[in-house]
Amino acid sequence: MGEIRLRAAERADVAALLALWEVAAENDSRPSDSADAVARLLARDPQACVVAEFDGRLVGSIVAGWDGWRAHLYRLAVHPDYRRRGLARRLLVAAEERLVALGAGRLDAMVLEGNDLGQSLWRSSGYTPQPEWRRWVKPVS
Ligand SMILES: CC(C)(COP(=O)(O)OP(=O)(O)OC[C@H]1O[C@@H](n2cnc3c(N)ncnc32)[C@H](O)[C@@H]1OP(=O)(O)O)[C@@H](O)C(=O)NCCC(=O)NCCS
Repeated sequence: MGEIRLRAAERADVAALLALWEVAAENDSRPSDSADAVARLLARDPQACVVAEFDGRLVGSIVAGWDGWRAHLYRLAVHPDYRRRGLARRLLVAAEERLVALGAGRLDAMVLEGNDLGQSLWRSSGYTPQPEWRRWVKPVS
């Protein structure tokens, strides 16, 4: 197999990103993604989303969000055909390097209780669950 390249996502990637997330991401218990929302993210922080590209096709992603206060990781996803070859790890390392360079002292990710695959990835990458916290949410429009 040729080289899988990591780079920042661009405005032109939005449709391909949404298509990747349809088949590859953790999609339960969350609002659905939209092209507008992804475009807004990239307009606000053009380096926030790192993608893995192979042969012109997006095969992996991660969003490394930094708001100047906290750092959050979202949308870590690898296309099913490209799993188990260290790609999530590569994406995570790239995201971690970016967030540390921006000043983050701690990184976090939301992981569904039933997502054993996701939990195994985060655990093996040094992340641990924080049982004393529960996320409180309020949908707004
Ligand atoms: C979780 C996911 C991103 C892993 O992607 P990947 O490229 O296959 O992961 P890697 O090859 O980099 O593996 C990194 C580590 O994750 C763990 N892992 C990955 N796949 C695993 C599997 N099928 N079973 C057990 N552990 C697994 C292992 O600890 C692995 O390290 P190792 O290869 O040294 O054992 C991918 O399976 C995916 O996209 N899943 C659906 C979306 C998702 O759940 N994302 C996480 C949201 S919280």
